[in-house]
Amino acid sequence: MERIARLIENNRRWSERKTIEDPNFFVDLAAQQTPDFLWIGCSDSRVEASRIVGMSPGEIFVHRNVANLVVHTDINCLSVIQFAVEVLKIEHIIVCGHYGCGGVQAALETDSHGLIDNWLRNIRETAYLYASELNAIEEMPQKIDRLCELNVARQVLNVCETTIVRDAWNRGQKLMIHGWIYGLTDGLIRDLGHTNLGQKEAREFRTNFMAGRG
Ligand code: CO
Repeated sequence: MERIARLIENNRRWSERKTIEDPNFFVDLAAQQTPDFLWIGCSDSRVEASRIVGMSPGEIFVHRNVANLVVHTDINCLSVIQFAVEVLKIEHIIVCGHYGCGGVQAALETDSHGLIDNWLRNIRETAYLYASELNAIEEMPQKIDRLCELNVARQVLNVCETTIVRDAWNRGQKLMIHGWIYGLTDGLIRDLGHTNLGQKEAREFRTNFMAGRG
């Protein structure tokens, strides 16, 4: 009970500190949120979206799930993307994976993990597509890390292919999709160079990814 009570106590202190720094902080924030970024990341407790990129409340719109997947039947993720693009009019969607992701590791294992295996199926497809490259990597941690990168590329592609993003690009709305990966051991983000600015680029990206040049 003490540990849970600590959260409320921490919150009270944080609110106090913020109000001392800027007496209007919460009043201004409550009036409106105008984030410029949508972050799609892993639920992993070590990859806290706004903190690792130095953002304050109100600056980043966040969706997280196990292994940062964008699945076209996931109404939760799609609703977040729709709200971000059509209502908040954010200009950047960032898919940020992380090295050493437990979800990606589980997708590489052959033993059963129960229900979550259905979710991780999406990563297995990428592992099959890149089997020859992955099989050539001897050490398991390196193999997992490479699949973490490929999974980000795949999810960037999935974002580009949502009706929401396609429609936005067709309307001429400015929208960039980025693929990043975070290192748990150094706290650094690497840009994987998968930035997509429009339909034509996304098509080329798909062709390259499917041909094993992800
Ligand atoms: Co993870």
